[in-house]
Amino acid sequence: MSTTLPAPATSIVRTPSKRTILMCRPDFFTVSYRINPWMHPEAPTDTSLAVRQWETLYQTYLDLGFDVHLIDPVDGLPDMVYAANGGFVIDNIAYGASFTYAERQPEGPAYMDWFAANDFDVRVPENINEGEGDFLLVGDIILAGTGFRSATNSHEELARIYGREVVTLELGNPSFYHLDTAIAVLDPAPGFTAPDGSGPNIAYLPSAFNETGLAILRERFPDALLVNEEDAAVLGLNSFSDGYNVVIASRAKDFERQLRERGYNPIGVDLSELLLGGGGVKCCTLELRR
Ligand code: ARG
Repeated sequence: MSTTLPAPATSIVRTPSKRTILMCRPDFFTVSYRINPWMHPEAPTDTSLAVRQWETLYQTYLDLGFDVHLIDPVDGLPDMVYAANGGFVIDNIAYGASFTYAERQPEGPAYMDWFAANDFDVRVPENINEGEGDFLLVGDIILAGTGFRSATNSHEELARIYGREVVTLELGNPSFYHLDTAIAVLDPAPGFTAPDGSGPNIAYLPSAFNETGLAILRERFPDALLVNEEDAAVLGLNSFSDGYNVVIASRAKDFERQLRERGYNPIGVDLSELLLGGGGVKCCTLELRR
């Protein structure tokens, strides 16, 4: 009798690739309004702690060899630290953000000015969207969230601008109001093929999606890692991967274990202060794809 044993997951060799990202130091971070359930304006925040924690994330990215660009923070825009919402960038085209809530609306032009000054082809948005908070490039397709922030007509705009397939996913739990709080992209490079020949993979929180969204995810990503409620509740999914190293919330222990089993290298950071605004690792990170 001959049996073929599957190769142990740990034998998978994953290849990191250097990323270029944009970040914003939280010099003016505080919680002065409430636009998601994580935010409690009546509770105090510690801006200097937020800066120290953010600097650990920044240093982690530098140590991974990433090319990290910085946009100047603006006094009075406390959520500007969540750079992922500042736009969406592929093929040197920067699709600007148009924020849902008045409190964050001035961030859209601030980020578009930065893109223009840094030679990106800026597209002024016609529809409400919160950039990479709701749009995730997975291989060659774009997963696009809706339900709380980005409007579905922005998904159509995205498809027109980039000429790529855009898959709409509806979110249903207000605590996971941006797609990047409910899905982590583990192999983000365009055209990526996994060592075993399969496509790029993701991790997600099943309960964050409605039935239609869940059916799409199950069909398209049968090997996805499913993250538990406990890890999702510390924004564990809000992570950033270079294809091998995955920077995650240090408290997301089961997600960390699953990543290690699949041959990824999880790196935990503590952004507890920025969690008070409803954001984590990925929220502070906008990928710039030239
Ligand atoms: N306070 C911010 C908001 O509610 C947090 C944004 C988090 N960003 C993200 N990409 N999930 O808009």
